Amino acid sequence: MISYDEKKRLFKLDTDNTTYLIRIYPSGHLGHLYYGKILKEVVDPSNLEAAFKIEVGNQVVYDQGDRTFNLNLALLEASTFGKGDFREPMLHFRFPDGSRISDFKYLKHAVLDEKPKMSGLPETFGASGETVETLVVTLKDPARNLELDLFYSLFLRSDVIVRRVVIRNLGEAALIIEKGLSMNLDMLNEDYQAMTLDGAWINERQIHSHDLLPGLFKVDSKKGVSSNDHNPFIAIKQKTTSEDQGRCYGFSLVYSGNFEATMEVTPHNLLRFMMGINSFDFYWNLEKKSEFVTPEVILSYSEQGLNKLSQNIHHLINNNLIKPDWQNHERPVLLNNWEATSFSFNERKLLKLAKAAKKLGIELFVLDDGWFGKRDSDTSSLGDWYPNRKKLPSGISGLCRKVNEMGLAFGIWVEPEMVNPDSDLFRLHPDWAISHPDYEPSLGRNQLILDLANPEVCEYLFDVLSALLASANISYCKWDMNRNFSDVYSRHLPKEEQGSLYHRYYLGLYDLLEKLTKKFPKVLFEACASGGNRFDMGMLYYMPQIWTSDNTDGYERLKIQFGTSMCYPQSVMGAHVSNIPNMQTLRQTPLETRFTTASIGLLGYELDITKITSFEKKVIQKQIAFYKEHRKLLQFGRLTRIKNPFANQGASLMVTSQDKKAAILGVYQALEHPNGALEKIRVRDLDDEKEYLVKNRKQYFNLSMFGDLVRHALPIKISQNSIWFHLLKNRYLMQAESECQSEKGLTYNQNGFIPKQNFIGTGYNEHVRLMGDFGSRLYVFKEKENQEA
Ligand code: DGJ
Repeated sequence: MISYDEKKRLFKLDTDNTTYLIRIYPSGHLGHLYYGKILKEVVDPSNLEAAFKIEVGNQVVYDQGDRTFNLNLALLEASTFGKGDFREPMLHFRFPDGSRISDFKYLKHAVLDEKPKMSGLPETFGASGETVETLVVTLKDPARNLELDLFYSLFLRSDVIVRRVVIRNLGEAALIIEKGLSMNLDMLNEDYQAMTLDGAWINERQIHSHDLLPGLFKVDSKKGVSSNDHNPFIAIKQKTTSEDQGRCYGFSLVYSGNFEATMEVTPHNLLRFMMGINSFDFYWNLEKKSEFVTPEVILSYSEQGLNKLSQNIHHLINNNLIKPDWQNHERPVLLNNWEATSFSFNERKLLKLAKAAKKLGIELFVLDDGWFGKRDSDTSSLGDWYPNRKKLPSGISGLCRKVNEMGLAFGIWVEPEMVNPDSDLFRLHPDWAISHPDYEPSLGRNQLILDLANPEVCEYLFDVLSALLASANISYCKWDMNRNFSDVYSRHLPKEEQGSLYHRYYLGLYDLLEKLTKKFPKVLFEACASGGNRFDMGMLYYMPQIWTSDNTDGYERLKIQFGTSMCYPQSVMGAHVSNIPNMQTLRQTPLETRFTTASIGLLGYELDITKITSFEKKVIQKQIAFYKEHRKLLQFGRLTRIKNPFANQGASLMVTSQDKKAAILGVYQALEHPNGALEKIRVRDLDDEKEYLVKNRKQYFNLSMFGDLVRHALPIKISQNSIWFHLLKNRYLMQAESECQSEKGLTYNQNGFIPKQNFIGTGYNEHVRLMGDFGSRLYVFKEKENQEA
C-alpha cells in the first residue's frame, strides 16, 4: 500500500510486514526516513530523523536560506555529484560543457496500480491477479533538462520493494552517464555488518561478514559476468542478527553482468548502500530525447533474522521472477553424461547410459559438451552447432528419438555465447569475437566471447539455436558460459559506444533469451557458467534453474548450497550425485550423503551408471523413488537453515510445505566424533497445533564399510576374507537404524527434535545412529492425521 501525505511531504510504502518512508526535504531533494518493521502511523516525521539542527562545521551549505542543511549529512534516495555531498554518488554524468555537476529535486509523483513492464531487461512481475502497486517519483535537474524516475514496486507478501531508476535526457544535446546505479539508500549505521557471498570456481558463494566501519566497502564484478568472486546479493545485518533473530536487509540485483555494491560509512555514522551496474569501465552515451533504464534491485527487510529474509526473497523468485510456465513445475530427475564420459562418447555409449538411467528411475537424459563440430577436447568447435557424425551417426534427432523410445526425455548442452578460434564460425567471422585488432586476444578455456552487442551475431545465434531445438524432441537445454571477458572491444560499435559494450552485450543476450524462451516455452533451460559463475536473478528470469557449481562433492556442495540459499531457493539449484573419489576434491563422500545434499535441490546424477555395483544401483533406485515421492516438498518447500556447515561441525536444514503438513529435515555430519556429544536439532517452522509423525528415510550400508568388524554388525558371523563377504558386499543392503516418533509441532519447535544418538564406539544396535565421516540422514515429518488417512 502506498500513501502520500501532502502536508508532511511523506510517502509511506507498506508491505505486509515492512514500512519504507520517503520524504521530500524542504530543499526539494528526496530523502530517506525509515525502512523497517511496519509502522501504523507517523505523527511527526522529524521524530524519525537523526539530524543536526544546527550548522555543521566544515560542510558545504546547500542553500544560504537554511544553513543547517547540507547534502553530505542528508539521508537521500538518490545521490549525485557536485553540490556538497562528498560520499560516493549513485549517478555521475559528464555534460557537453565538460562539467559533472548535477542536482535533482522533486518534480512530481504517480502511484500506479501495476508494475510497468520495461522491455529489454529481466524484471520481476506480478503473479496473475496480484496487484503490484508502484510509486514513481520524478526528480528534475532543470539546469540540464534531465529527469530521473525513481521506481518503487511493492510485493506485499514477500515483503519486497523493487527499485530501479530511469534517466531521461530531455535536453538538446547528448550527455554521458559515467555511473548509473539502480538505487541509493542512506540510513544510520547501527553497528551493521555486510554479509557477502564470495568464492571461486568449485567454491562458490561462501558466506562472509564484514563490519562496516568508517570508509568504503565494495564488492563488485569486473569479469563481464555477475561472477563467482562476489554474488550480486548483499545482506546488511546487525552483528547480533542470527538465522532466526535480529534485523537484516537484503539487496539483490536482477542483472548478470558487471555489478557493484558499495557501502560507505561516514564519520557521522551514516551508512550509504548503493547497487547497480559497475561504473568501472562503463559509460553510456545518452542521446538527446532518450532514456537509460537501470536494472532492478530487490530490497527486503526482516526482523526475524536471515532465514525470514531468505524466505522473502525465495518467495519473490518463485512467484514473481521465474516464468509462470515453470513456477511450481516439478523438475525431472536427470542423468548428465559430463562426469561420466567427458568428451569421449559415441551413440552406443550414450544409449547404454540412457538404458541404465531408465532402470534407475531417471526421467531425463542430458547430453553435455562434445556432441558438435570436431569437439573432442575443449580446444575446438564452439560455434559449430551441428552434430559430430562420427560420434552420433544418426545426429541429434536420431539419438533423441532412441532416447525417447526408451521412455526418457532428452536434453542437450550448448555454449552459444562462445567461439573457439579453431571453428568454422570463427574462420568465417573473426570480427564477431570480442577482441581488439591491435592485440592478440587472450583466451579463456581456449575460447573467445562472441560480440552480442552486434545484432547480427544475436540473429545468427537465434537462427542456429532455433534450428537445433526444433530438430528433435528436445525438452531441456543447458546453456553454458565458460570464460570471463578480456580484450573488451567491439568491432561493431563506434568509438563513442565502446564503454557500453558490457551492458549492450547483456541487452543482446537478454533479447536473444527472450525470443528463444518464447519460441520454445516447453524447453526447460538451465543456466551454467563454469558452474556458478553467473548465478543471479537476471539469468533466472529467462532460465528457471542454474547449475549451482561444478563441485559435486556432497559435503562441499552443502556449503555452496547453504551460501546460495541466502538469496536463491532450492527450486533453482541444479544438484547432482557424482562418482567418488570426487573429481573436484578427491573426497569419498558416501553415496547417501551425495544424495541427501542433492535432494534439497533439483536432483540429477552425473556418473557412469553403467559401471556401478548392484548395491549402488539398488541404493540409487531407492533414492530416486524417495525423491519423486517428496519432490514437490523438496523442490518448492520453504527452506530453513538450522545449522550451517561452515564450522565443519555438521549442518542441518529443513524444507516445510506451505501448509505445514509435511517437512523434511536434512542432518549432515562432518567428521565422526569419538564418543561425541548428545544433540538436539532445533527444528522450526512446524505448525504448533499439528502432531507430526517423524520417520527417517531408510538408508543402507555397504558391508565393506565395516571390514572385519562386520562380525559385530551382522546377525550372521562372517569374516571379511570369506567368499560370503565378497558375494554379499556388493549386493546386500544393510539397513541403518529406523527412527519413528510422533510429537506436537509446538514441542518440536520449542524443545527441538532428538533423533537416535550417534555411534560412540561401544557397539552397534537399533538405538544407535551410525553416520560415519560425512554421513547424513533425512527425516520426514508428516502431519499425523494425514498419515492415518
Ligand atoms: C562447464 C560446466 O559447468 C560443466 O558442467 C560442463 O558442462 C562443462 N562446462 C562442459 O564443458
